[in-house]
Parts: sequence; C-alpha cells; structure tokens
Amino acid sequence: MTLSRQEFRQQVRQLRQQLPHHFQQQAGLTLIEQFALLPELKFAQHIALYLSADGEIDTNPLIDWLWQQGKQVYLPVIHPFSKGHLLFLHYQPETEMVLNKYRILEPKLKQPLIRPLYQLDLICTPLVAFDSTGHRLGMGGGYYDRTLQPWFDSQRGPKPIGLAHDCQHVSKLPIEAWDVPLPKIVTPSTIWQWETAV
Ligand SMILES: Nc1ncnc2c1ncn2[C@@H]1O[C@H](COP(=O)(O)OP(=O)(O)OP(=O)(O)O)[C@@H](O)[C@H]1O
Ligand SMILES: [Mg+2]
Repeated sequence: MTLSRQEFRQQVRQLRQQLPHHFQQQAGLTLIEQFALLPELKFAQHIALYLSADGEIDTNPLIDWLWQQGKQVYLPVIHPFSKGHLLFLHYQPETEMVLNKYRILEPKLKQPLIRPLYQLDLICTPLVAFDSTGHRLGMGGGYYDRTLQPWFDSQRGPKPIGLAHDCQHVSKLPIEAWDVPLPKIVTPSTIWQWETAV
C-alpha cells in the first residue's frame, strides 16, 4: 500500500516532532560536520538557510558556524505581494525579526536587505520527507518548488541543498509535475547526492 502525499507529510512530521530534545541538539551539531565536508562550501559566500520549526533539524548551530566562517547568511521572507513566492534577506545576529503567517520568525522586510536569488550561491531547503531519488516533499506551500524552478530549468544559479534528519528518508514519494528534486541532501549521517559528475 502506498501512502498519499498528505499521509507521508503527517507520518514524517510526527516522527521528527517526537525526536527527544537531546537528540535534536546533537543532530544540529552533527549536521555541521557533514555540511563542512561539502565541496561547494569553499566557493560559497552567500548562503540561504531557514530557521527550524516543527521538529526540523536545528539550523541554529549551522548558522552560527557559517557566521564564524565569515559567510553571509540569508533567510526566506514570504513575499508581500507575489503569492507563494519567497524573498531572501540578509540575516545577522542583530537583524530585527517578526513572526510571519506560519508563526515562523523572519527578518523584518527592509528593501536594502533583499538579495536577488541569482546572487546567492547555495539555498539550503527545508523538507518534510525525501526519497531515494532526491525528490522532496515540503509542508505543502510550493514555496521552494517555485524558488527552485529556474535552477531546475537552467541548472544555473544557486544550488539547492536539502537539510534533514535521517528519519525523514522514505523509499519512494508520490511526485507531482511541479516538484523539483534536489541534487544533494545533507543529514547528520550522510551526504546524499544525485547529480551526475561534471
Ligand atoms: N513552480 C510552480 N508554479 C506554480 N505553482 C506551483 C509551482 N510549484 C508548486 N506549485 C503549487 O504549490 C502547491 C503546493 O505544492 P507542493 O505540495 O509540491 O508543496 P511542497 O513541495 O510540499 O512545498 P514547499 O515547496 O513550500 O516545500 C501546489 O498546489 C502546486 O500547484
Ligand atoms: Mg513540492
């Protein structure tokens, strides 16, 4: 029996929400060790991340570490007019934050902080579940599918890298035409990759 997209979302969200606090803390730290191994990181200066919610792997330690490495970090902000789209704003320790409609903190929208998508080097994407072909299932908003569409069509621009707990891996997800598969996903134990060698 195969599960529907909604059933996968529900099951995997519940799994990650139930991870004990100490496990979450350790996972966020171990993620840095894997992330540091990415060859892309050396040439990446402008990196989009996201703040964790809903049991997602804790990205705060990774963000702190990237700041220490002298990297510039950006966070998604829901576009005020263009429905279903994201903007990416520069994020620093002193950045003024506000709650968005999903009750997730995002930088307060200030025009000078916006960095156009094509000027980012990496986009770390959240996901609810991923499968053995690199397909991802998100929370259902289509935000990252829209954001990544130009990269998928042209294979140019910022490269997406998924971040997840190991328990978010499932063997096969039901796919829709608009879903953008990821070339890499980093978990505390593994760097999954599907891109062909260049
Ligand atoms: N490139 C796109 N252009 C227009 N609509 C899109 C696009 N990508 C996704 N959508 C719409 O977004 C909705 C949600 O898509 P989906 O269920 O794949 O979200 P998701 O991948 O779980 O979310 P997210 O991308 O935010 O993590 C769908 O109704 C779909 O039609
Ligand atoms: Mg999708």
